[in-house]
Amino acid sequence: MTLKTGKSITMKRDFRAALNPALERIGVYKVEGGQEAEVKLNQNESPFDLPMWLKEKILDAFRQEHWNRYPDILPYRGMAAYASFLGISPDSLIMSNGSNEMLYTIFMACLGTGRRVLIPQPSFSLYEKIALLLQADLVEVPMHQDLGFDVDAIIDTALSEKVDFIVLSTPNNPTGKSLSHEEVERIVAESDAIVLVDEAYIEFSKQRTALDLIDRYPNLIILRTMSKALALAGMRIGFAISNPELMAEITKPKIPFASGRLAEITLAGVLDNYSLVTDAVSYILAERERLYAELSCFDNVDVFESDTNFLVIRVGDAGQVFTRLRESGVLVRNVSGYPLMENCLRFNVGLRAENDRLLALLKTL
Ligand SMILES: Cc1ncc(COP(=O)(O)O)c(C=O)c1O
Repeated sequence: MTLKTGKSITMKRDFRAALNPALERIGVYKVEGGQEAEVKLNQNESPFDLPMWLKEKILDAFRQEHWNRYPDILPYRGMAAYASFLGISPDSLIMSNGSNEMLYTIFMACLGTGRRVLIPQPSFSLYEKIALLLQADLVEVPMHQDLGFDVDAIIDTALSEKVDFIVLSTPNNPTGKSLSHEEVERIVAESDAIVLVDEAYIEFSKQRTALDLIDRYPNLIILRTMSKALALAGMRIGFAISNPELMAEITKPKIPFASGRLAEITLAGVLDNYSLVTDAVSYILAERERLYAELSCFDNVDVFESDTNFLVIRVGDAGQVFTRLRESGVLVRNVSGYPLMENCLRFNVGLRAENDRLLALLKTL
């Protein structure tokens, strides 16, 4: 093998043979179309950045910190702030550098070679990737044709396949569909597995959070992100919430010092000004309803009802529509590769003018 430096290196066997064999089954995480666009609707982000006065306040507090010192092993200040916001005990949660990092932590705590994980499909693609990396066995349960969850199949399969771990994204990315509180409780109560309920989009949902169930069920973990309704995708903040005994176990594989001081201060600043979040959510839901109503009148578009900050549509040729929108400065997500989602595009609700631009372009296409 010749390296870029020009030096040749020899190894007795191909270096790939020395790597984790699971790497052959996974790819590098990619966002098709990149992450830059005039109208960016492809990552389910909030269209509202924090106001400058709040950024200044957060930065003033951050300046007073010791940048040369490690932060706490776990970000206890951020955890105390979110626990008090939710009205739960601080030993019921841990904070991570984005909920993706927490997914790795929880999966490491629950899975390993030959352990069995049930994932309804389609769902957030990272679940499958981490499970494959950990050499777990995947048990997939398809959604109904309308993209809704098949609760009976989830419970029956969990029991018949003796799964150790179930991952539910509700409301679900990429379908936008939710389980009801009662359905979540049925799965947690009947499945005999650890159940992870990823509530990344719960602030937009008609359904109640499953948070109240953590005191009653020893096998339930809830995942939250601050990247969607709280508009902090750039700050990387996520949480796992469960009863303290299970939380103590999940904390074992956690990367130490993974969250920086700025994330903790920012979270506290946003929670102290939560009307910014509720106002943004109201705006997004109103715009989502407007988009849904307008798109329902289009001849060649099927639009799915959504319980999130994004919509899914089915078009004649998703690849072509994706490219034409991209060329016109509007970036959406082509989710056609997911099971049951042939020719589907997903886009989050943007500002009114951005949504108008998307509608106008879709009309011409
Ligand atoms: C269902 C779901 N879970 C988790 C995440 C990850 O969020 P983050 O790592 O930004 O907290 C996403 C992001 O799109 C998501 O859709």
